[in-house]
Amino acid sequence: MNILLLGSGGREHALAWKISQSPLCSSLFIAPGNAGTASLGTNMAVNPNDFEAVAQLVSSEQIDMIVVGPEEPLVNGIYDYFKNHSSLGHIPVIGPSRQGAMLEGSKAFAKAFMQEFGIPTAAYREFTVDNLAEGIDYISRQTPPIVLKADGLAAGKGVLICPTVEEAVTEFNAMLGGKFGSAGSRVVVEQFLKGIEFSVFVLTDGKDYKILPVAKDYKRIGEGDTGLNTGGMGAVSPVPFVDASLMAKVEERIIKPTIDGIGKRGFAYEGFIFVGLILVEGNPYVIEYNCRLGDPETEAVLPRLQNDLLALFHALAEGRLSEEVIEEDPRSAATVILVSGGYPGDYEKGKPISGLVGEGDSLVFHSGTRLNDAGELVTNGGRVLAITSYGDTFREALAKSNGKAKQIHFEGKYYRRDIGFDL
Ligand code: AMP
Ligand code: GLY
Repeated sequence: MNILLLGSGGREHALAWKISQSPLCSSLFIAPGNAGTASLGTNMAVNPNDFEAVAQLVSSEQIDMIVVGPEEPLVNGIYDYFKNHSSLGHIPVIGPSRQGAMLEGSKAFAKAFMQEFGIPTAAYREFTVDNLAEGIDYISRQTPPIVLKADGLAAGKGVLICPTVEEAVTEFNAMLGGKFGSAGSRVVVEQFLKGIEFSVFVLTDGKDYKILPVAKDYKRIGEGDTGLNTGGMGAVSPVPFVDASLMAKVEERIIKPTIDGIGKRGFAYEGFIFVGLILVEGNPYVIEYNCRLGDPETEAVLPRLQNDLLALFHALAEGRLSEEVIEEDPRSAATVILVSGGYPGDYEKGKPISGLVGEGDSLVFHSGTRLNDAGELVTNGGRVLAITSYGDTFREALAKSNGKAKQIHFEGKYYRRDIGFDL
């Protein structure tokens, strides 16, 4: 099969790495890709949100399957675009329809969905400018911290945890006043849940589902989970506290009702659901749904998936997902992200990267890199590289990833050495 993978981050490099190992893969194209994906397939300078350009590529390269990495094209309806296409309607798109992607695209939609299907999540109310005063009254009656969420996609910045009612009211007004643009024209006010988070990834065709290896990511920039939120500074898989009895609760109380709900609402859903969970007094609650795989969790999860990923996608597209059995590598994986100095604030790009030769025991996935005009590998984003290693425990895996992180150089390099510190 000729495969087109959309996206350009560490998640996509890990997907490209896994897909390119499949005997079913004849050729792999990545749009737009990065310097890492270029060694596994052909990068194409096409914007995944320009569906016409993607369709042209699908035709010219005789693509047999489209795999969508990031959320934006899904929320924009790339699945529906191809399903309704006059000549390309038969090409499977791995990813949900626009309606299914609303589980990530609208926090209010996701909360209403969870409420309808009895899926455990924090209590909430939603507000717009039309009931702003009611919102302020509601916030004033809550016990802080108070969680405010911009309804729409806000590049991971739309969730605020306010320590006081005053701050929550100020931020609430700012959100409805346009702080996050149209993403914040509706605001979800949510009960704060205290617990430890973890991530579960499910591959589904909307009826059957398969659960991938569980992971935990680390979002804060600073060691000990301090400082600003980032796209993700590292991940481990599996997660020591997520045992079989907890996974059984997750499956019964959350995954099954979610898949059931998708069926009852009639959403076309042929892709991944990422369930962000929090464990509160032994019980799992949903913090959020995403309509795609997580980054950097993917860089720890896919190296532990022993199945042929493309065979799973192929089975999904042919309605045979139920026949597949997920096989997990018994080893642990730990991923450390190297970021540009200054990230998640301002940072410089174009810094030459050295020390990558001889990967040894570790896998190095590129997040934000490119080859410059002189053919040198340079930084091209906040998150630059993802280093994954295996070990009998995540600590052993982490020691290897940290060792590798030390050997790689670029000006301003920073990474957290304490991934998994709370496990
Ligand atoms: P989200 O963008 O929905 O993943 O939220 C970002 C982060 O905010 C999550 O990973 C949690 O750490 C935190 N968060 C979101 N909702 C809640 C909540 N109801 N209670 C506590 N923390 C939350
Ligand atoms: N690792 C969290 C995310 O991908 O949204």
